[in-house]
Amino acid sequence: MRVMKFIGLATILVIISAFAVAQQPSDETKPSVKHVPITRTPSNSGKEMYDSYCAVCHAKDAKGNGPAASAMKTPPTDLTQLAKNNGGKYPAAHVAAVLKGQAMSPSHGSEDMPIWGRLFSSISQGHEGQVQQRITNLVTYVESVQAK
Ligand code: HEC
Repeated sequence: MRVMKFIGLATILVIISAFAVAQQPSDETKPSVKHVPITRTPSNSGKEMYDSYCAVCHAKDAKGNGPAASAMKTPPTDLTQLAKNNGGKYPAAHVAAVLKGQAMSPSHGSEDMPIWGRLFSSISQGHEGQVQQRITNLVTYVESVQAK
């Protein structure tokens, strides 16, 4: 049991490694990606989860130009345009599926766009209900930033 927990934690540290970015002005003009551990956030705040987990790539305003964006092979999606690009209807089920790692477009599930369901499962000690709550609140938050 203890061993499992330890393995779980080590996994988080590895997976989360893509999310923090450090500017290295010395020899590269591109930012490099730095390894940091995942932080716990309240599962009931979509905004807090978004700011902690998504803004680094998708930007605080969700338009896709976060600090890590230039280090990505595929640019992070402008999340404010999801409804517009879907005939005016916000694709909630699709966003949830992306977060769970169930909707893979060619670059989804790539190293650039992490599979959040798994990470949320680790910080929720495997409580499926809490993982679902995190995903639902994130999906609702992203809906709230849709361009009119
Ligand atoms: C490490 C960078 C990174 C982080 C962190 C990240 N994303 Fe992404 N995301 C991407 C990239 C890059 C793409 C574009 C992949 C593609 O075009 O196939 C993407 C695509 C998406 C899409 C798919 C849009 C579509 O058109 O289907 C959604 C939804 C999304 N991200 C939501 C989120 C949410 C919510 C979070 C926070 C829980 C998050 N992302 C965190 C990099 C990231």
